[in-house]
Amino acid sequence: MITIGVPAEGPDEPRIGLSPETAKRLTKNGAKIQVASGAGTRSHFSDTDFKDAGATIVKDSAAAVKGADVVFTVRRPSATLVRGMKKDALLIGMLDPFSDAKGLETLAKTGVDLFSMELMPRITRAQSMDVLSSQSNLAGYKAVVDAAAAFGRALPMMMTAAGTVPAAKVFVMGAGVAGLQAIATARRLGAVVTATDVRPAAKEQVESLGAKFIAVEDEEFKQAETAGGYAKQMSAEYQKKQAELIAEHVKAQDIVITTALIPGRPAPKLLTRAMVESMKSGSIVVDLAVERGGNVEGAKPGEVIQHDGVTIMGKFNLPGLIPVNASSLYAKNLTSFLDVMIDKESKELALDWDDEVIKGTAIAKDGEIVNAMVADQLVGGGASPAAKKPSAAAKTPAKPNPEGGSK
Ligand code: NAI
Repeated sequence: MITIGVPAEGPDEPRIGLSPETAKRLTKNGAKIQVASGAGTRSHFSDTDFKDAGATIVKDSAAAVKGADVVFTVRRPSATLVRGMKKDALLIGMLDPFSDAKGLETLAKTGVDLFSMELMPRITRAQSMDVLSSQSNLAGYKAVVDAAAAFGRALPMMMTAAGTVPAAKVFVMGAGVAGLQAIATARRLGAVVTATDVRPAAKEQVESLGAKFIAVEDEEFKQAETAGGYAKQMSAEYQKKQAELIAEHVKAQDIVITTALIPGRPAPKLLTRAMVESMKSGSIVVDLAVERGGNVEGAKPGEVIQHDGVTIMGKFNLPGLIPVNASSLYAKNLTSFLDVMIDKESKELALDWDDEVIKGTAIAKDGEIVNAMVADQLVGGGASPAAKKPSAAAKTPAKPNPEGGSK
């Protein structure tokens, strides 16, 4: 029988890595769960909900991780909390793998094996474990709802006796998981939606949602997708042509939502100050890439600002603003991943370190950093020899967790 510990997160993180639904499933399968009292409150999961699902409520985070074989977190927890874990336990969370490598090394040295869910390989088998997808999807939805709430006009066209309200024009830049949900949500609200992306595969997806695709579709565009399905850095010449096309288009838009990311690089700057200033007063811009450097010139990380009559929203952690759904989906991602690590017969942990999803997400094993990209960030590349072997994870992107962490 395995014991799963679930501590409370820090003040900036409303999500939790367990839902009553996953707690019920885990306990039914023989796991013992210890949850810190109040850990689910901000996701509207009460201690009673967890107790009814078979979990044990313990007084605080330290008690939740004590003696646990596996600990589920949302953010990277503090070293103090990890030191309170069993030496060979597993810590599974969004550990923000490409920032503060030293901090990760400190956690690794406790002997706890670290797994970072952001590194989940994007293979069909791992779709149910893909936290970037489950959380980005909600962020895309929330971006549109936030923009609509701040917009001084309506989104759908309305024909009334007092006159016609025109449909709002929404432009989505970057049509990955978040962008596609933003398109779908804006369409449901009745807006006229256009979208752009540098990956040619995005065109069909955008059109299938009823939006118009806007991009310079030259030879370079046709080649612009990595084998992993991610965007490539485009040439300066392409960027210039694309920027000219976008500049013309943006002038007429009411709401622009940017979601563009390139793995391992700062977010591309897509909306210049001049473009923002070309928009009508009262327009809204939402920069979903703000945590990775931002797509919008002038966007302030974590803030909502006004520039020349345009509202620029740069809020952090949009999935955390719909914590009930975000926690439920994230908790499901975690339990699907844990399933891979458990022997069906004995119900004990049985990790196959050659399994792509385990190897891909592992950051530290037996006290040593085993992810090549994390190792490279350490001074002098100074990590374990095990880290020299590049892992599948090395090519996957990091989405940052701005601040916070488990208490
Ligand atoms: P992302 O979050 O890394 O980037 C968001 C979007 O920005 C991408 O569509 C990217 O092409 C676009 N972008 C980058 N630079 C741009 C620029 N200069 N101008 C306009 N757009 C730009 O991507 P996300 O959402 O994680 O998805 C990437 C791909 O992975 C998609 O094709 C998605 O369908 C696929 N995917 C596959 C999964 C699986 O097989 N398990 C799971 C999730 C996504």
